[in-house]
Amino acid sequence: SLGSRTVTERTLVLVKPDGVARGLVGEVISRLEAKGLRLVAAELRTLPREVAEQHYGEHRDKPFFPSLVEFITGGPLVALVVEGPRAIEAFRALAGATDPVKAGPGTIRGDLALEVQRNIVHGSDSPESAAREIGLFFPALT
Ligand code: TYD
Ligand code: MG
Repeated sequence: SLGSRTVTERTLVLVKPDGVARGLVGEVISRLEAKGLRLVAAELRTLPREVAEQHYGEHRDKPFFPSLVEFITGGPLVALVVEGPRAIEAFRALAGATDPVKAGPGTIRGDLALEVQRNIVHGSDSPESAAREIGLFFPALT
């Protein structure tokens, strides 16, 4: 339901290695904080291959999977747990479409990226994904 009864959710957000390398961590955090979402956890880390393969497990059989794992493990990323009403959908809206060329202006990807792989951010896509991904990155929170 909407309004005061809207359920509070948590979502896993990643500022991927391209976003960290380009100095966009603050920009991403500013945008989600300005929206009204709240940080619950934040950590800079470089992912081991096994964690990257688990995180993107749904894409294991896709042609882009090996390249995606190389990219996401190729440098430090910033992992965030973000909380707020409908946080999962709210952050996906802030991020914009997967393909940054198709993402609308005003979105993180639409404003700041050009390539599908190097699209700056990840956000969980469902409550089930959020629970799984938060458990993978921040087991102490679950
Ligand atoms: P996906 O889960 O489909 O997108 P989103 O990040 O919007 O949830 O894909 C995961 C990531 O894989 C995506 O952010 C970028 C990368 N990717 C590619 O490199 N090539 C592709 O064709 C697709 C669909 C995704
Ligand atoms: Mg996805």
